[in-house]
Amino acid sequence: MIENSRRRIDFDNPPWPLVLEDKLKRLLGGLLIYGPYVRSLGLGSGGRVLDFGCGGATEALSLLEAVGPAGRVTCVDTSKHWIDKALKRLAGIPNAECLHGDIRRLDLPDDSFDAAVAIHVIHDVPPDIRADTVAAVVRKLKPKGAFFLWEPLKKSHGMAVEDLRRLLAEAGVHEISSKAGKKSFKGADSVQIVPSKKCKKPVNKGKDCGENKRK
Ligand SMILES: C[S@@+](CC[C@H](N)C(=O)[O-])C[C@H]1O[C@@H](n2cnc3c(N)ncnc32)[C@H](O)[C@@H]1O
Repeated sequence: MIENSRRRIDFDNPPWPLVLEDKLKRLLGGLLIYGPYVRSLGLGSGGRVLDFGCGGATEALSLLEAVGPAGRVTCVDTSKHWIDKALKRLAGIPNAECLHGDIRRLDLPDDSFDAAVAIHVIHDVPPDIRADTVAAVVRKLKPKGAFFLWEPLKKSHGMAVEDLRRLLAEAGVHEISSKAGKKSFKGADSVQIVPSKKCKKPVNKGKDCGENKRK
């Protein structure tokens, strides 16, 4: 296993740079980061989406916008600090729910989500429970559900793309398309794609970027 070196973060007592980052993401993230990313996923309106490792609901508003009032976004995080923040920020939104806990044990039915989204999360899941955790997320997806990932790949922050691919393969995830640059991996299971801004034309599966139709 290639495990990038990195000290673990205590997400229940986040250090101030993380708190500051959250405030900035809250202010500008929807417009500059999460909105464009989520729109690129092509989530259908009315869909059920699992926001895995939701943090302080940084991407949840963009997901809610994508699925519309008929859809539903379930935010899950193991950090009490961040799920409380998410709860406050999503208060009063009827089709958003926030669950604190470990996806392996939460009372969420299998085969119930159209898509799961994990943004900068998998590398933060402790290595000894990563495979089980990814497998649990995949179990929550409907048979044709999609798993969208966005992970950092830097040695100082993130994990090796080979490890990410191995985890997904072991969980039975069939990679439809991905773009692995030097700093991040954007990949997906089963239906959708993360189109690269640099790729003008669609390219075939196995290439670095592009859009693939379901076979
Ligand atoms: C870097 S933050 C990303 C938060 C958010 N997705 C974003 O992009 O702003 C990583 C999040 O993953 C959560 N996390 C870590 N391990 C987890 C696990 N096993 N299950 C669910 N969430 C987890 C942390 O508590 C933290 O909120």
